[in-house]
Amino acid sequence: MKELEDKISGANSLEELEKIRIELFGKKGVIAKKFAQLKDVPNKEKKAFAEGLNKEKAYLQKLYDEIYETLKKEEIERLLKAETIDVSLYSNLESKGALHPVMETMDKIIDYFVALNFSVEDGPKIEDDFHNFEALNLPKNHPARDMQDTFFCKDGRVLRTHTSPVQIRTMLKTKPPIRMIAPGAVFRKDYDLTHTPMFHQVEGLVVQEKGEVSFANLKSILSDFLHYMFGDVEVRFRPSFFPFTEPSAEVDISCIFCKGDGCRVCSHTGWLEVLGCGIVDPNVFDAVEYKNVSGYAFGLGVERFAMLLHKIPDLRMLFEGDTRLLEQFR
Ligand code: DAH
Repeated sequence: MKELEDKISGANSLEELEKIRIELFGKKGVIAKKFAQLKDVPNKEKKAFAEGLNKEKAYLQKLYDEIYETLKKEEIERLLKAETIDVSLYSNLESKGALHPVMETMDKIIDYFVALNFSVEDGPKIEDDFHNFEALNLPKNHPARDMQDTFFCKDGRVLRTHTSPVQIRTMLKTKPPIRMIAPGAVFRKDYDLTHTPMFHQVEGLVVQEKGEVSFANLKSILSDFLHYMFGDVEVRFRPSFFPFTEPSAEVDISCIFCKGDGCRVCSHTGWLEVLGCGIVDPNVFDAVEYKNVSGYAFGLGVERFAMLLHKIPDLRMLFEGDTRLLEQFR
């Protein structure tokens, strides 16, 4: 009996214990063999013999169960330790994409005007002379055409130099009133720190009955918009010239880098130019045969907004597709 007890207690692993279990409690095991002796025991001793055996068996079984539990616990602990995950280890995580900063800025701009009930209009990127120039009060040989370094197609069409032609297309297909923006890519022969041959603009146009739209409306909506985009900045309207608006203005915000003190980014003026706008020139309404209306329009460069918002020094970086740059905007 002592020998069997020691055997069970001495088991070092579940495997060893399992072997012992078969050896003791199995069909041909030690206990079974002892029970087999019962038939040779004289009748009057049979009862006591059997009782003794059952007690012994129960005792060994209990001991076995205890050892089993202990070994099982140890085994689980060992496994847990072996399978611990080191979360600090470097892992080759799949890299996730993100909105390009230019598109993110574009979305932010669109959201603002959509909330003010502007529709979002679209037009072709290859444009004809009429929509890109003529109807916008830029007749052939007009010197203002030189303001835009145009890419010409062989058939005389152009890669649109601005999103203003979408004004014309929208007015030609709908009746006033109109309240629209036109976001999209435009093209100009230009390449330096702040210019790329393809960039994005958002055009805006509001047309209502004559007398219903004033420069004050334009000023108010653009000031609010610029505060929404840039936060606490000063906004100023400066007289300017665009062929399609009269009067025209360029809009500046106080430099977000130096707060107006003057720095390299604002060429020491304290101001950053961000928008062009004005009251729609009557010649434009004539070109689309709109009568008794008045309106205002504006246009802005999305990349310029993105550069200012994210303090990006070189616009060309945005179009090189270098993921190390783009990852910073995730
Ligand atoms: N189309 C102009 C450009 O590309 C931007 C612009 C200025 C649009 C004034 C307008 C406007 O509608 O009124 O530089």
